[in-house]
Amino acid sequence: MYGVKDQLRAELDQIEADGLTKNERLITTPQSSHISTTAGDALNFCANNYLGLADHPEIVAAARDALDEWGFGMASVRFICGTQTQHRDLERLIADFVGTQDSILFPSCFDANGGIFEVLLGPEDAVISDELNHASIIDGVRLCKAQRYRYRNRDMADLRAQLEAARDKGARRTLVVTDGAFSMDGYLAPLEQICDLAEEFGAMVMVDDSHATGFIGEKGRGSHEAYGVMDRVDIITGTLGKALGGGSGGFVAAHQEIVDLLKQRARPYLFSNAVAPSVVAGSTRAIELARDSDEPRRVLRRNAELFRSLMTEAGFELLPGEHPIVPVMFPGEDGARRASQVADAMLAKGVYVIAFSYPVVPKGKARIRVQLSAAHSEDDVRACVEAFVAARDEVG
Ligand SMILES: Cc1ncc(COP(=O)(O)O)c(C=O)c1O
Repeated sequence: MYGVKDQLRAELDQIEADGLTKNERLITTPQSSHISTTAGDALNFCANNYLGLADHPEIVAAARDALDEWGFGMASVRFICGTQTQHRDLERLIADFVGTQDSILFPSCFDANGGIFEVLLGPEDAVISDELNHASIIDGVRLCKAQRYRYRNRDMADLRAQLEAARDKGARRTLVVTDGAFSMDGYLAPLEQICDLAEEFGAMVMVDDSHATGFIGEKGRGSHEAYGVMDRVDIITGTLGKALGGGSGGFVAAHQEIVDLLKQRARPYLFSNAVAPSVVAGSTRAIELARDSDEPRRVLRRNAELFRSLMTEAGFELLPGEHPIVPVMFPGEDGARRASQVADAMLAKGVYVIAFSYPVVPKGKARIRVQLSAAHSEDDVRACVEAFVAARDEVG
């Protein structure tokens, strides 16, 4: 390695010295609201398990049955010999659920976002991206040759300015891309206004609904349902790795021509193994459960409302909203230290939450991000708030 190991070790040491090392907590149980870890039992408030489906018995059974019926792996990309009828059935189910003509599965939503821009946009085109979009959108945009524009988070005046700039440069196609729900803040993108602006400028709209599909909107169809713009969004990307069972896999749901072209050209689709049969079967059951019952969404909303109101009563500063991502703010210069001490003290009390600070969020805006789930009981939510209060008293 000619000294490379020493260089890498120095880089790791610097990460550690900056307090940025991510240490994985080892879980010894299935993913759920109550988990055990090698460090003890914990009430879990940091999974993306919004609908509580990650260990749902019907999904586990569907995946188990699929092992017998469909085997373990595909050992092929989709277009060679990696497409079972159930892959196509799942794509149709997703399209139906989110309200598009068709959809295409990817190994992950990271890959969906990584593959789409290059296929749709060339040097004569423009992509206009919210500054807080997910890393996979940023990387996907980097991989395409379109002219790049960025607008301030959810700032419609700035989006208009960027649309004007793209138009003035004579862009052939323009694509506006946004997360449907921003994962650090729990804020929703203002899709109605985004669609209005896009229509005014003849642009397409793409929404990454990874933190929305399954539970945002009355029937959980996503942020475009919540804003009443289901027929105005051109492209939806999403994940099977969060609310929809939390397995793995991602998708692009869109107009037929977009899906068809992605099947011909999207590199992560063409050059990566097909989603495993048991994951396809489990995810299919997860979407059916999300589609057919409002109950998990009702419980999730109740939990989020209860948590927000109890925490506000207890004097904590929250970012406003209705999303089950609830950022508990620790502003100011020593906010990062306090947030991390409170999170540590809570874990000692058996409540698992995560503190985020710069560079993941802006300086001075440290927070503990709490994620509610339909798997939490009312008592779980109350226990979390009590742990916050006790930890705050302890840390001072
Ligand atoms: C907004 C957003 N997009 C995409 C992804 C990636 O999804 P996946 O885990 O399916 O790659 C995530 C996951 O963190 C996300 O939060």
